[in-house]
Amino acid sequence: MKNYTGRYPASRPRRLRQSNWIRRLTRETQLSPDDLIWAMVVHDGREGEVPVASMPGVARLSVSSAAAAAKRAQKLGIPAIAVFPHIDAAKKDTVGKEALNPNGLVCTAVRAMKDAAPDVGIMVDVALDPFTDHGHDGLLKDGRIVNDETVKVLVEQALVQVKAGADIVAPSDMMDGRVGAIRAGLDGAGFQDTLIMSYAAKYASAFYGPYREAIGSGKLGSGSEQNPGDKRTYQMDLANTDEALREVAMDVAEGADLLLVKPGLPYLDIVHRVKTTFGMPTYAFQVSGEYAMIMAAAGNGWLDGDRAILESLTAFKRAGADGIVTYFAPKAAELLGA
Ligand code: PBG
Repeated sequence: MKNYTGRYPASRPRRLRQSNWIRRLTRETQLSPDDLIWAMVVHDGREGEVPVASMPGVARLSVSSAAAAAKRAQKLGIPAIAVFPHIDAAKKDTVGKEALNPNGLVCTAVRAMKDAAPDVGIMVDVALDPFTDHGHDGLLKDGRIVNDETVKVLVEQALVQVKAGADIVAPSDMMDGRVGAIRAGLDGAGFQDTLIMSYAAKYASAFYGPYREAIGSGKLGSGSEQNPGDKRTYQMDLANTDEALREVAMDVAEGADLLLVKPGLPYLDIVHRVKTTFGMPTYAFQVSGEYAMIMAAAGNGWLDGDRAILESLTAFKRAGADGIVTYFAPKAAELLGA
């Protein structure tokens, strides 16, 4: 692209900003409800909605509330919902067995949502952390997260979810080789058309904090050898960018249809690099901590929340994202006049 070469006073960039109609006409990026994937937390209790304290405006939804929310998504023109489960502590164990329960919370919610709103795509996380008592995404052996054993379980988890009706499986665990294994598992079971959105570049981030409260996964291990206190042996080092491209390249080769970068706003450089390098459908996850920051500041009257929401979502599009996974989806769709 050529550089802007005009010179003042013949060129006056402000001419293009002087009123709304000309700003609209020259706007380079459009944000629409079509760009949104609604991040939604479900629980299997009876209360319709249980507010998440660290995420004002977000509540865990019961299965029937989630079904109603799916209908709302359809009305608002939101194409897809990403479901995250809050599992009863009593159902958690060291191996995350509940993840494979075909009548568990995730599968029940998926069925109810597809029933209520068949035209809304349903995406499910493939990872064990909501189901393990230690809160890690994989199986823990002698204080280490074991890769290949975990991948085997993830393939089963994906299959169970797809049989319940999930349209997109989204491995968020960051084990090596899981995209290829899940693709082979799905194909082998006749699910050639099920989409995989790979959390291809997912960083070990402080911004997932409120999510732990939302899904009730509590604090990670003590930090001892036996139970690491963070996810740094599988999620990426936040200082790296070439590594993100290698991660993405592997997932593309293994059959990923859609790519996800996570977290979002602090990682727009990664979104941009991934999009320009691979030209694949690329999404950003505006995570729980990003949501909480905007809501906390807005709640204190320190910024205009509605404007900040739309500004942050537009920034993702400007950086090259095709869409955004966000807890703001219904609010944003309303602000966009849906
Ligand atoms: C689990 C998972 C996490 C999120 C989505 N899936 C947490 C983590 O990896 O620690 C974070 C979502 C958010 O913070 O909004 N694999």
